[in-house]
Amino acid sequence: MIFMSTKDEKLYIVMVGLPSQGKSTVAYRLKDIFAKNDIPTRIFNNGQIRRQYARARNTWASEFFNPANIEAVKLRKRFAQINIKRAQKYVNTTGQVAILDATNVSAERRRLIEESLNDHPILFIECINDDSEIVDMSIRQKIKTREFAGLSEQEATNEFKKRIEYYRMIQTPLSRERNYIRMNSLHNKIINEKLTDQLPLYSRIRDCLVTDVVKSLFLIRHTETYYNVEDRIGGDAELTAKGMEQARALARFFQRKRISYIFTSEKKRTIQTAEAIRSLQQDCTIVHLKEFNEIDSGICEGMSYDEIQRLMPEVYSARKADKYNYEYPGGEGYNTMKERIKIGIKKAFYLNMKPDNIMIVGHRAVNRMILSHFLYRRQEDVPYIYIPQDKLYHIVATQDRKLFELMKYQ
Ligand code: F6P
Repeated sequence: MIFMSTKDEKLYIVMVGLPSQGKSTVAYRLKDIFAKNDIPTRIFNNGQIRRQYARARNTWASEFFNPANIEAVKLRKRFAQINIKRAQKYVNTTGQVAILDATNVSAERRRLIEESLNDHPILFIECINDDSEIVDMSIRQKIKTREFAGLSEQEATNEFKKRIEYYRMIQTPLSRERNYIRMNSLHNKIINEKLTDQLPLYSRIRDCLVTDVVKSLFLIRHTETYYNVEDRIGGDAELTAKGMEQARALARFFQRKRISYIFTSEKKRTIQTAEAIRSLQQDCTIVHLKEFNEIDSGICEGMSYDEIQRLMPEVYSARKADKYNYEYPGGEGYNTMKERIKIGIKKAFYLNMKPDNIMIVGHRAVNRMILSHFLYRRQEDVPYIYIPQDKLYHIVATQDRKLFELMKYQ
């Protein structure tokens, strides 16, 4: 879908929110969709300026964010002003949209922005995510950056959490600003919005915020395990020698593609597959999500399909009659997995900030559900989608393109 816009429709977008609330993810998503529509857009990130400056000073320390630290407050204001100026210059020369990516949680900072950027309209976008598990995961990723190199994981986490608390002390939600959207950035839902001015691109921005888009998702099933050889379900089996070789082949296949994150389940078979892939990557983090654990087959865990048919014929035939809705006694069904898979996908997209290649190493039933999240399949067909171990799916699902490709990696 092509946006209708003219070059004189200039806009400032100002991100708002505590650290680790998904602001940069949303900023990159917007930039990406604008780029596809030839709308020159640039992100101005205050953190980047601070980190450049940090080469000389310790600006990672939580004290640097203490509102009572007068010297640091001045410096942070200075960094904000540098970006405000750069954004203004950009929009008034070659640019059309400038995105200011910083916390901007205080009303005072936002007033400074409004007073300085009074030549074109401003849209504030506040990101809110109160899922503490995902905030913790996001913090774990952030403290891996060079900035925190001298600290232990615990020290860095404490510093980062204190930083958030300092920002919380000066936080006021959007309300008096002329144009804003407050959104749940994990679920891509708009909480409330206000529109006073005629804003260029507004409906397209809104669309982009509430749509699950995937630029490039590689969906892989773990490679062969000892359980697969015996046709057993569930469990936590390791990869066989053949499975290890398949995982190495996957690694070679992806060697020249940049994969920043691999999302797996908590099971050994997906982690071992992902570790092999990571071994040929430059800088790749593996994140285990419980949401991507294979369907829990309850009383049938560890059994083969043959054994189920022989020893529990009622389970076998009930499942065969309605595979999507059938729930294993003491376990799950495809229907009951739907919600957690959706949350897993949201988490993966939230953590994979830049919309580049995303990789999920999952299981047969899980991957079926992930595929059906992006591409419509009749419910009754979902439990039969083909999920082989010697091929992978590449999925693209954006506002203007849908692709669903089964690729051989060996
Ligand atoms: O690899 C086997 C497996 O992942 C099992 O752990 C799981 O129960 C099964 O596939 C899901 O496939 P189906 O729903 O077709 O039995």
